[in-house]
Amino acid sequence: MRFDIVTLFPALFEGYLGEGLLNKAIKNELVDIHRHDLRDFAPDSVHRPVDDKPFGGGPGMLIQVEPTVKCVEAVQAMSPMPARKILLTPGGKRFDQRMAEEFATDQRLILLCGRYEGFDQRVTDIWQPEEISIGDFVLNGGEVAAMVIIEAVIRLIPGVLGDQQSNIDDSFSQGNRLLEFPQYTRPREFRGHTVPDVLTGGDHGAIAKWRAEQSRLRTQARRSDLLVESENDIKNPNA
Ligand code: ADE
Repeated sequence: MRFDIVTLFPALFEGYLGEGLLNKAIKNELVDIHRHDLRDFAPDSVHRPVDDKPFGGGPGMLIQVEPTVKCVEAVQAMSPMPARKILLTPGGKRFDQRMAEEFATDQRLILLCGRYEGFDQRVTDIWQPEEISIGDFVLNGGEVAAMVIIEAVIRLIPGVLGDQQSNIDDSFSQGNRLLEFPQYTRPREFRGHTVPDVLTGGDHGAIAKWRAEQSRLRTQARRSDLLVESENDIKNPNA
């Protein structure tokens, strides 16, 4: 799968691309990530400004339509692969696991990261991306949001995780819309806190039952909205 990241700060991704699962997926040619500097499309190639004051007044600066549209069009043309076009903004549709599952079936994502007060509206009008937010809070820019999306999507690409089962067990994954049950490893006792007996008893049926119950209790306590969603899923699996 190919990702194209369009940003004013390509260097922000350096450490991120060089570590962990993502780095391994790149080395194994399961994912291919390209970064593009929006300033390369600034009309003034000396000072390279790409922002200006909003018409009508107001605080901050906006990223201009001309360099942005020229940049994303050039990026799109760099590969014949069809691309899903995404603009990261706190005003977008909220990203979730279902969206990650859908994006993971695409061949290519172009992720356009905003800064300042965002983009001139004509970027969306002309380029027609999907506007996506990673949550109801405001970041300094879309770069971290792009990393979140990449992170959630690449885990779902076959071969990226060693053990595909962990995808299915994860909270929010297709097979499980509830929160994950608690897990323990050695030692069996630490500062008087012991591992629940059921997990060390070897009865796999009892373990599965305990885990399902713990998932339900945890979800009830922390995210009761998910229980409602999960019940709707069971009643109406193709919705
Ligand atoms: N840019 C700034 N805040 C954001 C958010 N919450 N989601 C996506 N992009 C953003």
